[in-house]
Amino acid sequence: MRRPRVGLAGRLFAAQAMVLLVGAATLGLVTVLAGPAMFHTHLRQISGDVDPALAHHVEQAYTSATTVALAVGAGTALCAALAVSALVARRVAAPVRQLAAAAADIADGRYGTRVGAPGIGADFDSVAASFNAMAARLAHVEATRRRLLADLGHELRTPIATIEAYVEAAQDGVAVEDEDTWTVLATQTDRMRRLVEDIAAVSRAEEHQLDLRPVRVAPADLLDAAVLAARARYAAKGVGLHEHAAPGLPRVSADPQRIGQVLANLLDNALRHTPPGGRVTVTAEAERDGVRLAVADTGDGIRAEHLPHVFERFYRADTARDRDHGGSGIGLAVARAIVAEHGGRIAAASDGPGRGATFTVVLPAAR
Ligand SMILES: Nc1ncnc2c1ncn2[C@@H]1O[C@H](COP(=O)(O)OP(=O)(O)OP(=O)(O)O)[C@@H](O)[C@H]1O
Ligand SMILES: [Mg+2]
Repeated sequence: MRRPRVGLAGRLFAAQAMVLLVGAATLGLVTVLAGPAMFHTHLRQISGDVDPALAHHVEQAYTSATTVALAVGAGTALCAALAVSALVARRVAAPVRQLAAAAADIADGRYGTRVGAPGIGADFDSVAASFNAMAARLAHVEATRRRLLADLGHELRTPIATIEAYVEAAQDGVAVEDEDTWTVLATQTDRMRRLVEDIAAVSRAEEHQLDLRPVRVAPADLLDAAVLAARARYAAKGVGLHEHAAPGLPRVSADPQRIGQVLANLLDNALRHTPPGGRVTVTAEAERDGVRLAVADTGDGIRAEHLPHVFERFYRADTARDRDHGGSGIGLAVARAIVAEHGGRIAAASDGPGRGATFTVVLPAAR
């Protein structure tokens, strides 16, 4: 048979009650054993030999007075103490129970659960705050995971459906093997290959397996290489590309290939989101602890609510449009991982739709 489990409130109350009972028992014992003897001695000292009948009477009076006082005083104190103990024990146990229930909710997948501040001291409040922060983080991870799976499914559906249609046509003997067929098939397999590569890259980057080869490099050299690589595509679309590196910048410690990848992605995004006739400016400036590289465009801009999310995997601010443009929403996630691996930081800013966007990368100065 299982013993009934005693909760926190019960244990706290039992402990308090035990202390009170021991206190009361000690008080009673001392009063009964030591009190009368002491009174007797004092009585002798004051008045010498007393009539035994009188002495007996006086001692009797003493005993009954102390007994009544003790019984009433100790009884009242005991009742009050037990009541307060019960109250405190319940107040302390309630938030623990609430926390346990909330944790069980989260274990069951209800990530929206939060606990209120119990208001019984800073310790409990900070436990509740930490719990809520953890729950929010878990909810976010879960949302990202769902979106990732949904996106992957969506991303793969079109190429697979296309290839399937061609295979079925070939099986039925109605396939036309012309130039177009191969181009379509190659485009679709290419799309899948790029997706797989992107996913592999972002996983590697986020697991810190990038294998950086940092060298001391002048920021202007990083800009030059990135601008040179992008120049032709910008010219083809009719978007102006300008470069400016402040003089006397410190060298940074960076893997030129990886930072090149970051800048290429930023320039790629800027070009994709800037209409012909717009301009994109790439700059390098001194920053308190290093160098700030910035890619600023005069294009579509980004809504404030999207800004905090653009660095997440598969996040696209304008889903339909960006998907048509072939982006899978991974470029900035890779960029952020690479920059973090360099000990730097990356940020996005925009004044809103139609008002352009600026992406900045801060790299620490080489020692
Ligand atoms: N310069 C920009 N102007 C406006 N929106 C931008 C800009 N750069 C990025 N974004 C938004 O941020 C989203 C994420 O960018 P990211 O580079 O991660 O993905 P992508 O360019 O869509 O795809 P990929 O880079 O993987 O091919 C983009 O889909 C776009 O909505
Ligand atoms: Mg991109």
